[in-house]
Amino acid sequence: MFESKKYAPSEEFVRNSNLTKDQYEEMYKKSISDPEGFWGEQAERLTWFKKWDKVLEHDFANAKVEWFKGGKLNVAYNCLDRHLQTPAKNKAAIIWVGDKPGETRTYTYQQLHREVSLHANVLKRFGIKRGDRVLIYLPMIPELAIFALACTRIGAVHSVVFGGFSPESLQSRIDDAKPSLIVTSDAGFRGGRIIDMKKNIDEALQRSEHKVQHVIVAERVGNETYTVWNEGRDHHLRDILNSPDLSDECPPEEMDAEDPLFILYTSGSTGKPKGVLHTTGGYLLGANMTFNYVFDHKPDDTFWCTADIGWVTGHSYILYGPLSNGATSLMFEGVPSYPDAGRFWQICDKFGVTVFYTAPTAIRALMREGVKWVEKHRLNTLRLLGSVGEPINPEAWEWYYHNVGKGRCPVVDTWWQTETGSIMISPLPGAIDAKPGSATKPFFGIEPVIVDNDGKELEGAASGNLCIKQPWPSMMRGVYGDPERFFNTYFVQFKGYYFTGDGANRDEDGYYWITGRVDDVLNVSGHRLGSAEVESALVEHQSVAEAAVVGYPHDIKGQGIYAYVTVKNGVHTNDELKKELLELVAEKIGKIARPDVIHWAPGLPKTRSGKIMRRILRKIAEGEFSNLGDISTLADPSVVATLVEDKQKYHS
Ligand code: PRX
Repeated sequence: MFESKKYAPSEEFVRNSNLTKDQYEEMYKKSISDPEGFWGEQAERLTWFKKWDKVLEHDFANAKVEWFKGGKLNVAYNCLDRHLQTPAKNKAAIIWVGDKPGETRTYTYQQLHREVSLHANVLKRFGIKRGDRVLIYLPMIPELAIFALACTRIGAVHSVVFGGFSPESLQSRIDDAKPSLIVTSDAGFRGGRIIDMKKNIDEALQRSEHKVQHVIVAERVGNETYTVWNEGRDHHLRDILNSPDLSDECPPEEMDAEDPLFILYTSGSTGKPKGVLHTTGGYLLGANMTFNYVFDHKPDDTFWCTADIGWVTGHSYILYGPLSNGATSLMFEGVPSYPDAGRFWQICDKFGVTVFYTAPTAIRALMREGVKWVEKHRLNTLRLLGSVGEPINPEAWEWYYHNVGKGRCPVVDTWWQTETGSIMISPLPGAIDAKPGSATKPFFGIEPVIVDNDGKELEGAASGNLCIKQPWPSMMRGVYGDPERFFNTYFVQFKGYYFTGDGANRDEDGYYWITGRVDDVLNVSGHRLGSAEVESALVEHQSVAEAAVVGYPHDIKGQGIYAYVTVKNGVHTNDELKKELLELVAEKIGKIARPDVIHWAPGLPKTRSGKIMRRILRKIAEGEFSNLGDISTLADPSVVATLVEDKQKYHS
């Protein structure tokens, strides 16, 4: 069942690696048997203004966890100031690469420190202080990194919203986070196209209940695509930066380890996206330490994580992990296919990227373009590759390993979540052999368990629901503004455990194989979406009576969105209506949520109590008709035959 090839790192890699197999095992054992001792020692990786009173205080089963309470530190200080006393002072902290080839900017640690201090003073000028929320809606430009760090410097809580989200998604985040200030840009570039940013903010603010006093607008595109300039509310960033009395010194605020650091919205299986709240000390330690060990960090590395800072991967592995380690982090504004499918590899060569971290969906898309795009480039500086966001199929893993890594670079398949803050299960490249498709072994302090549907822990090789048994420093501390939701979402299904929402297999070697979500969360091109969100967007159309959305296997995206739509009596289904529905979803959520398939369903399979049987809908979407299970309990079993027939006729 779990047969697989094993790939060991080369002798040279092992010799230079930050950790040997024996060290991993010894440290892992200690981290589980004596978490307080272990994490107390590891926390010395960070610079503290004052040490904590207690390493860990918890009632895990009730979702109550505190790490390093009483300890005082500042994230920007750890990411910037402390490197200024080292040779890293004039080292590149961020190498920014623009969408358009040739456009780049580099910030040394010293320069970034100055920019962050200046921008922190910009925030202060608008009265922003510790605990206030700042919503950041920016394209992947340096100001995004700078403002996020500026927030941490003064103790403000940032909430970065991915630039691809629509005004309506923005509005719900604004009403939930109630930010005192928003940072945006006139517009952004992505794959040669212009993305409206300020315009989206204007629309969102028009609808939001919460009134935001200030909007700072950075300039990226230069031609003013927005139409509204709200005097008094909107401010050009350049004007504020140009004021001569703006100081470039800003003392870092002393924050408690458990003070909120950021809120990041993510989709769950029900309702609207939730604001995942991370705190200061534990989160930073998790990001810092995983970056060092999983990416085997060396001071002369050029590390490139291709994610957007609008997702947790960008938070932890473009900003906080690399910068707190004094690493050089490459930040890319564009997409893998622009101007051509060799863009990633051209950037790797040009900047001498040594460690490269991307998502399976990008690998599969580039695989389809053919190996010729890889072969045009040398890729001789690469030494380690990473994958994140969704299960990587062994075929894509092998392609990545052989063609990009030339069989020389270990691949770390890193499993984690917005909620976990940092990497949870992954090979440590010099210590753990890889098996294509497996995230392998847990990181320090992480005790994964597999439980059956009754919540019973399974031993040895097993398949079931993936849970975590002990608290870890970078875990989320709550759902912003909704304390009950944290406990109810993650700690109720399986008593005593944090439930990840993922299914997993564990093989005879203790390796974990994540099989994907077992709840109603979709993972489309590594982006997380709730079926319920897409459904509520669809039913807002006046012609739609009902909708049910499921995921199905998609060659490039990993999962595609399959929407069953029932129209109201008398409505004619046609391509025009289909187009309207796709537009509606893009408008309500964002383009990433547009269904791949709209299946007109005369009815949906429901139990007699009216519950939609998603299991059956998933099978039909997958084209798996032979094994639909018992349908006799349905209120109207005949709908299944119709759906199967239509699927074969129109959607195969
Ligand atoms: O299903 C798992 C999948 O992505 C989910 C978390 O999504 P998000 O919070 O958006 O964070 C993504 C980046 C950390 C997980 O519940 N996932 C993430 N990484 C992997 C993965 N599935 C399999 N293998 C992975 N390496």
